[in-house]
Amino acid sequence: MEIKNNFVFSDNENINLFTKIANQLWIDKGASQHNYTRWYNYYFDNKTEEQLNILEIGVAKGRSIYLWNSCFKNSKIYGIEINKRATDKELIKGCKVFIGNQTDEKFLKKVCKSVPDGFDIVIDDGSHVTSDQIKTFGYLFKRLNPGGIYVIEDLQTSYQKKYQKGKYKSAVDYLKGLVDDINYNGKFKCNSFDRVIKKSRKLKKYEKTIEGMSFHAGICFIFKRYSG
Ligand SMILES: C[S@@+](CC[C@H](N)C(=O)[O-])C[C@H]1O[C@@H](n2cnc3c(N)ncnc32)[C@H](O)[C@@H]1O
Repeated sequence: MEIKNNFVFSDNENINLFTKIANQLWIDKGASQHNYTRWYNYYFDNKTEEQLNILEIGVAKGRSIYLWNSCFKNSKIYGIEINKRATDKELIKGCKVFIGNQTDEKFLKKVCKSVPDGFDIVIDDGSHVTSDQIKTFGYLFKRLNPGGIYVIEDLQTSYQKKYQKGKYKSAVDYLKGLVDDINYNGKFKCNSFDRVIKKSRKLKKYEKTIEGMSFHAGICFIFKRYSG
C-alpha cells in the first residue's frame, strides 16, 4: 500500500480497469485528465458484478458508455444525449441512448418509465451548466433506487462565469446545503439532533433520503439510503 494525497490506495490503483479503459479511449475521466476513474474505481469496484441499471447523462460519441459497459458486465447501460448525431453506433452497442434534454421533465419522465426497475447509478456528465445539474438532480435523485449512487461530474463549472457563476445558486452551493441536511438534520437513530428536529417539524426529503456525500476535485458522489 502507498499513501497519496492523504488517501490510501492499493499499489495497482493507477491501473484499475476504469482508468485503463478511460486512458485507452482517451476519455477525459481518465488519469491523464480529470482522473475521476480513481474515484469510480474506489466507489464502484465492488459493484461491477452486480446487475444494475446505470444511466449516464451526456454521451457524446459514447466512449464512457463503452467504459461502463465494459466494467459492469452484468448491468444495463443507458445514456441521455441532446445531440442525436453525436453517438457512434459501435461504441454504444448493446446500450440504449435516449435523445433529449436533461432538464426536460417530460422527457425524463419517459426515460424513467421505459426503465421500470429504476436506475441504481446516475452519472451527470451532460451540459455542466450549474442550474441544469441542480434541476436534473432534483428530478432523478428521488427516483433513484434505494442504495443508489448519484454522481455529478465537472463541478468546477460552479466557479466559471461561462457556466452561470453568479447568475444563479451554483451547484456546489446547492450541494453544500445538502451537507447540512445530512450532518445537522439527517435521519440517524441515536442522533440527538434528529430527535430535536422531529419534535419541531417533519424531516425534509433529502434529510431522510441521503446517506452521505463525497466531494473530490470536480466530482461529487451522493449516496441514497436504503430506506427513507
Ligand atoms: C462532456 S460530453 C460527454 C462525454 C462522455 N460522457 C464521455 O465521457 O465520453 C457532454 C455531452 O452532453 C451533451 N449535452 C449537453 N447539454 C445537454 C443537455 N441539456 N441534455 C442532454 N445532453 C446534453 C453534449 O451534446 C455532449 O455530447
